Amino acid sequence: MKTEAELASWAATPWPELGLATPEALEASLGEFDAALAAARPEREAWLGRKRGLVTLINQNWLRLAPKEWKPALGAALNALRLRAEERLAATEAQAQPAATAWEDLTLPGRPALAAAMHPMLAVRDEITDIFLRLGYTVADGPEIETEYYNFEALNIPAGHPARDEHDTLYVGPGLPQHLLRTHTSPVQVRIMQHQPPPVRVIVPGRVYRRDTPDASHSPNFHQIEGLAVDRGLHLGHLKGTLDHFARAFFGPGVATRLRPSYFPFTEPSAELDVSCIFCQGSGCRTCKQSGWIEVLGCGMVDPAVFRFAGYDPAEVSGFAFGMGIERLTMLRYDWNDVQRQYAGDLRDLEQFR
Ligand code: PHE
Repeated sequence: MKTEAELASWAATPWPELGLATPEALEASLGEFDAALAAARPEREAWLGRKRGLVTLINQNWLRLAPKEWKPALGAALNALRLRAEERLAATEAQAQPAATAWEDLTLPGRPALAAAMHPMLAVRDEITDIFLRLGYTVADGPEIETEYYNFEALNIPAGHPARDEHDTLYVGPGLPQHLLRTHTSPVQVRIMQHQPPPVRVIVPGRVYRRDTPDASHSPNFHQIEGLAVDRGLHLGHLKGTLDHFARAFFGPGVATRLRPSYFPFTEPSAELDVSCIFCQGSGCRTCKQSGWIEVLGCGMVDPAVFRFAGYDPAEVSGFAFGMGIERLTMLRYDWNDVQRQYAGDLRDLEQFR
């Protein structure tokens, strides 16, 4: 008896070339197909495949080329073959389905469910937030579409102030010149103080926007965490102690910190917090540009002008504020060299941080 491969080359040969001179010879050869179908465990693709299935081949090479007077009989025989193939296939396929319960090994451990994981940047956000929650801070948020008043004016950045240019602001809609996408989380400082009396201890994680061209260290949309503490008698020592604690909680107990004088219109004095380079421990490397220090955040004592805008009396209270970029801290935490990787959503990259 012929194998399926032999049958295939046979079916692909035009019937006149096979020399099947009589209807009886043709009948006998179709009988070969029948016998093969009955004996073997047939495969659907080999028999009924739309392009290369045996039934299709016979149809194309035999039936189509058959003399007119043979066609009805050949067509009927072929049709019968198709039906038997269909029947046999249905039967073997039903057999191939194992009875599920009979084969289940109930002692096997379950398959692990596919669980989503936290994005590293959001994990860092939560980690930073938690450090301040443990210090008694609460979490607050504010609108991403802000007014010029809160984003700039109330933060002591009047129209025409050079600091406005540095913020590369995205304005919302030509009809709403006074609305913009907040360029930092600092406007929430003023909103909070307007809505509650002192003392204040809040942490504000949120999205901010700047008209920046995306590259390895810039994105038009990124995330910051703002901190604000206001009370009677707060001074620079409280700011330094708080940030020192934060730096050691986040980077590890071994890091050194320093406050480097800086300028922000809404704090006075202003500073930037550096930590000793976590990659070279301060000896100098590419990440810290050989300086031994890495810049982590901006901070300072709340400017009295901001208290006045917020309705607090600067003679009564004082406070400090700080703001940090979450993506930047994520890059440091995971040695993740390109900020765009944090937005790409490439699972092969993200799964490294599970
Ligand atoms: N808002 C500042 C920035 O985006 C950071 C900052 C916040 C500085 C609070 C001082 C106090 O760069």
